[in-house]
Amino acid sequence: MIDKIKELIAEAEAFTAQSKEEIEAFRIKYLGKKGLLNDYFSEFKNVANDQKKEFGQVINALKKAAEDKVNALREELESKEVVNGVYNDLSRPGAPIHIGARHPISIVKNQIIDIFSNIGFNVSEGPEIEDDWHNFTALNLPEYHPARDMQDTFFIQTNPDILLRTHTSSVQVRYMENNQPPIRTISPGRVYRNEAISARSHCFFHQVEGLYIDKDVSFADLKQTLQYFTTQMFGKSKIRLRPSYFPFTEPSAEIDVYWGLATETDYRITKGTGWLEIGGCGMVDPNVLENCNIDSKAYSGFAFGMGIDRIAMLLHQIGDIRLLSENDVRFLEQFKNAL
Ligand code: PHE
Repeated sequence: MIDKIKELIAEAEAFTAQSKEEIEAFRIKYLGKKGLLNDYFSEFKNVANDQKKEFGQVINALKKAAEDKVNALREELESKEVVNGVYNDLSRPGAPIHIGARHPISIVKNQIIDIFSNIGFNVSEGPEIEDDWHNFTALNLPEYHPARDMQDTFFIQTNPDILLRTHTSSVQVRYMENNQPPIRTISPGRVYRNEAISARSHCFFHQVEGLYIDKDVSFADLKQTLQYFTTQMFGKSKIRLRPSYFPFTEPSAEIDVYWGLATETDYRITKGTGWLEIGGCGMVDPNVLENCNIDSKAYSGFAFGMGIDRIAMLLHQIGDIRLLSENDVRFLEQFKNAL
């Protein structure tokens, strides 16, 4: 009888099943009330005493083999069912995949890069921690120049030569130092100014600087380029260049776009004038060209600078600049459908 049970153990171990029913039949055959194991257990009292020990061990082994088999087969079948459940029904709605959204600053920055790359501008970058030369002196802002006060600068306390750049114009200096004309480049990036934080201004924000240097570049080229940009970016082609002052450009101007007065929002954002200022521009001062080793007799050029945050706020109706750096997902999620 012991040999017979050992055979049954081998049989149970080798058993395979494809369906719940087959597993159940197997379970009943071995482990059911009238199953083989119960038969053997009731046989126990008739076994000779000297064989009881071994008999007990083999029927327990058989019981364990049968139970393990049932569990293993059930598990296997269940995992197959999960797989089939997912792949058999192709009309089953997909599980939503959580994707992020681009930050509105990146969205607007990329749009600006696209627009200018279409007319041959490349993208250049520079460090946010700058030295005095690239942020000020090379740009015609020598030490003690009163215009330095226009930009409240964060200096590194132990070394006043090192500062956080106050504008991306520092990148145009670097670019001119390392490249000869023709130069057509835009430089987007983060800038820092020691200003009180409010809904309208922050101690860091983003600018994009444009620089074009070649033979015979004129103010008309500047105006055309800006007009092309505002048309592409805002769908507005009417611009106005208001005389202004920047130490690194001569002449200098503020760039205004005619936004119109069609809606109440237009009234609000243009303060009832219809005009909206989007940045500064001008013809690069010959001194700046010379500071950067470009022959100002042979070449001329224009530069402009705009605030990316302001444009993003304008286009996406963001009322508070602080939202752009707080990284609140409820805010960021709203840009999922943007470019
Ligand atoms: N750098 C100037 C600013 O931050 C903007 C500007 C750039 C003006 C280029 C003219 C030319 O205000």
